[in-house]
Amino acid sequence: MTVDVVGERAVLLGIETSCDETAAAVVARAADGTFEVLSSAVASQIELHARFGGVVPEVASRAHIESLNPVVAEALLEAGVDGADLHGVAATAGPGLVGSLLVGVSAAKALAMVWDVPFVAVNHLEAHLFAPMLEEPDVAFPLLVLLVSGGHTMLIGMEGPGEYRLLGRTLDDAAGEAFDKVARYLGLGYPGGPVIDRLATRGAIDAIAFPRSMLHDGLDFSFSGLKTSVVNHVRRNPDVEATDVAASFQEAVVDVLVAKARRAADGIGARAMSLAGGVAANSRLRERWLDAAMADGRRALLPSLAYCTDNAAMVAAAGCWRLRTRGGSPLDSGVDPNWALVPTLA
Ligand code: KG4
Ligand code: ZN
Repeated sequence: MTVDVVGERAVLLGIETSCDETAAAVVARAADGTFEVLSSAVASQIELHARFGGVVPEVASRAHIESLNPVVAEALLEAGVDGADLHGVAATAGPGLVGSLLVGVSAAKALAMVWDVPFVAVNHLEAHLFAPMLEEPDVAFPLLVLLVSGGHTMLIGMEGPGEYRLLGRTLDDAAGEAFDKVARYLGLGYPGGPVIDRLATRGAIDAIAFPRSMLHDGLDFSFSGLKTSVVNHVRRNPDVEATDVAASFQEAVVDVLVAKARRAADGIGARAMSLAGGVAANSRLRERWLDAAMADGRRALLPSLAYCTDNAAMVAAAGCWRLRTRGGSPLDSGVDPNWALVPTLA
């Protein structure tokens, strides 16, 4: 499909339904490549899943069906646009939960057909990489991105949009998954990251010497041993303060994330380092990220909390770039629950 927005201002509707947030946003991309978020609406399903202690795929897809139309309507209204103002509709097509992805992609295709504009399939991980660019018009490349979410932990070297190199990844649990599992074990509820973050502010980071797995060993991560250490420590010390466990566990995760990110940034000669993904909302990680960047003479990019966790503004931004450089996606393209970031991009 040809695109008539090359080099001009483009306005896209983005839709995100890969996991437990139903989100829609309208983003404008100016001719100079900068983004303006005209609206960003999110309906969170967290309360629906909390009683199960994690995301239940069937519950998620049903909730997306119920929430999507109101969320899209809210995003269009807040942005003050309708179909005639849009140049395309972008939706997350993977990775994620297959039923949930299908809800967003089917809706995006239907809207694109009605409005006679291109549909753009967006990779959720690539969308996270666009989050820092929503608020920072002048991103310096090479950029080192630490993408840390409930499903992924990756160090990515970025030479520019679309040019990604996977430098390191987790060999077992994702960082967010470790937060969620430890919180569940401690009976703190779901999702665990925000609760541990809050508790940790009242605990001592050096109360318990949890292991820093693979700290000096390459750029890959491993968090399952740390989770087991927390469980063993609490079993052996039932009276331990939850605040100290939270602070010491969080410090162990952050120590490894920051140390490897610095090393990866050195390796690619990064001019800036950015956080992305839900765990990027962690207050201690953000603090340590700023300190590390300053110590190494690099710019630190910290997306706002609303653009760290799943949102559709990042999907619309990635969609704007894809539409301009690669054109729209076929209307018969499917979803891919395991869509990898790097092998898909030349
Ligand atoms: O990117 P995201 O919204 O969804 C995925 O694509 O996974 O990330 C969700 C993850 C959850 O594991 C959640 O516990 C974690 O991000 N998270 C946090 C914080 N806020 C969310 N982890 C640590 N500290 C936080 N403040
Ligand atoms: Zn995500």
